[in-house]
Amino acid sequence: MAIGVTEQISAEAKRLQGAMSSLGYSLNECLLFAPLTLRINTLKKERNAVILAHSYQRPEILFGIADFVGDSYGLSVEAKSTNASVIVFCGVHFMAETAKILSPGRKVLIPSLEAGCSLAESITAQDVKGLKAAHPGVPVVTYVNTSAEVKSESDACCTSANALKVIEAMPGSEVIFLPDVFMAQNLRNQTKKKIHGWNGKCVVHDTFTREQVLEYRRAYPGIKVLSHLECTSGVIEVSDFVGGTNDMYNYIKASGAKDFMVVTECGMSDLLRQRFPEKRFITPCSMCPYMKKINLQNVLESLESGRFEVNVPEGIREKAQRALDKMIEIGK
Ligand code: 13P
Ligand code: SF4
Repeated sequence: MAIGVTEQISAEAKRLQGAMSSLGYSLNECLLFAPLTLRINTLKKERNAVILAHSYQRPEILFGIADFVGDSYGLSVEAKSTNASVIVFCGVHFMAETAKILSPGRKVLIPSLEAGCSLAESITAQDVKGLKAAHPGVPVVTYVNTSAEVKSESDACCTSANALKVIEAMPGSEVIFLPDVFMAQNLRNQTKKKIHGWNGKCVVHDTFTREQVLEYRRAYPGIKVLSHLECTSGVIEVSDFVGGTNDMYNYIKASGAKDFMVVTECGMSDLLRQRFPEKRFITPCSMCPYMKKINLQNVLESLESGRFEVNVPEGIREKAQRALDKMIEIGK
């Protein structure tokens, strides 16, 4: 006899609670998510869709419906290699656009058009043309947190996982690095190359301060501090480790320490609490308002109605793909 809807929802809620128990979710809370995750997971199969989710997404997305969870770099590689017909991107717009650039034959959907990024919005293709005119012949390395048009004006893209490697791989002794002003400063401290930067900032990483880190160190002696490359150099100077979100994950996995301060968007701490229940993550919470625009309801609507489809004009896509392929080639 087929099991009824009530039993299915109850079993799904138990599955969710099992996956999120280290985050303190009650069965009642999971019962609210269960009808949506059940429907999404069924529709995903019917549509031959894959859900790619960035580590900063909500727990019910990460543990309820995502097929792949990762950092910007891992998500790009996954988008390039997937066999699914549809990619539903639980992340921000530039990430969905990157997936479309690398996987042009697939339908790419972003559940909310409000999922932008303060860094991506800080610079236009026209600005890049201006910088190239001011520094003729200097290669342009662009952080993936940018629009397809900006990527198309670049020699190579990078993520926080490979920025230094990409800069070092460029010819010559100078590089134009866009658009994150703090990341450019942090990279200047690691390379001999002259870096011409831009003034973009991440609204999340801009909020953390050196004093905050020192306060946590005083309150929790022995705590390991891991900071994202988008933080200010004041924060970086007092950190034990600096890198992208996946680098942080790998550091924690290999570390014998128990307490960690993870100086990045607070969704990452939820992911880490779930993956490493034996460790403690003591961290101030700064949420990305753009990442949090994605929720179970709009993912369901996206799968049902096929909105919002992400497209990139072919001339721009081809040039942007060259810059992204260069990153993937250097990152190998
Ligand atoms: P990662 O490249 O580490 O995934 O970070 C992306 C991002 O948006 C950081 O704010
Ligand atoms: Fe952009 Fe910062 Fe949000 Fe990442 S955390 S998507 S860089 S605003």
